[in-house]
Amino acid sequence: MIFPIFFAFVLLLSTSHAAVQDFCVADYKAPEGPAGYSCKQPARVTVDDFVFSGLGVAGNTTNIIKAAVTPAFAAQFPGVNGLGISLARLDLAPGGVIPFHTHPGASEVLVLVQGTLVAGFISSDNTVYLKTLKKGDVMIFPQGLLHFQVNAGGSSALAFVSFSSPSPGLQILDFALFKNNLPTSLIAATTFLDVAQIKKLKGVLGGTN
Ligand SMILES: *[C@@H]1O[C@H](CO)[C@@H](O)[C@H](O)[C@H]1NC(C)=O
Repeated sequence: MIFPIFFAFVLLLSTSHAAVQDFCVADYKAPEGPAGYSCKQPARVTVDDFVFSGLGVAGNTTNIIKAAVTPAFAAQFPGVNGLGISLARLDLAPGGVIPFHTHPGASEVLVLVQGTLVAGFISSDNTVYLKTLKKGDVMIFPQGLLHFQVNAGGSSALAFVSFSSPSPGLQILDFALFKNNLPTSLIAATTFLDVAQIKKLKGVLGGTN
């Protein structure tokens, strides 16, 4: 019995000398890799690297979706780099929509601070999970699944979302289909949508071909 205890003690002593890295504040001098940004030298890190003030300001909702996403991801907020977390602010004017999108790299939790939202996601077996959220409600959107939020009230809505990754990624379905140069014929063939509808959406979103 004594020997295993001694062995565990030695192990404890040896690991206690290993370097502990408390954080890895993003160093923006090099591009982001799969594991995030490289770490700023700890001596150059200040408290401001861990504070982000941008979420106190409403996003500009004068746009086609009448909504704005203000991210505090690793690219904007150096302190979250390497910590597996990030957040964003959602503003939706009356009639505003955060269109169908996915975050390939993170699950999301939303807390509705003001207004009313209809929010939903579609699971990979195509089940619909749909809910009208009121102030104070929280909803989860599992990693990688298509989801959306729609302002269902007559006033503006405000929500904060947090993510299980410092770089959750954001892919908007309609932008992927209609905001690039993927040929209309191929979009029609792969989505079964009418060519006229595809051309109309490309016109609105800036797609070509
Ligand atoms: C919001 O965006 C619109 C459209 O880009 C622009 O015309 C307007 O000046 C912006 N408003 C503010 C307060 O920045």
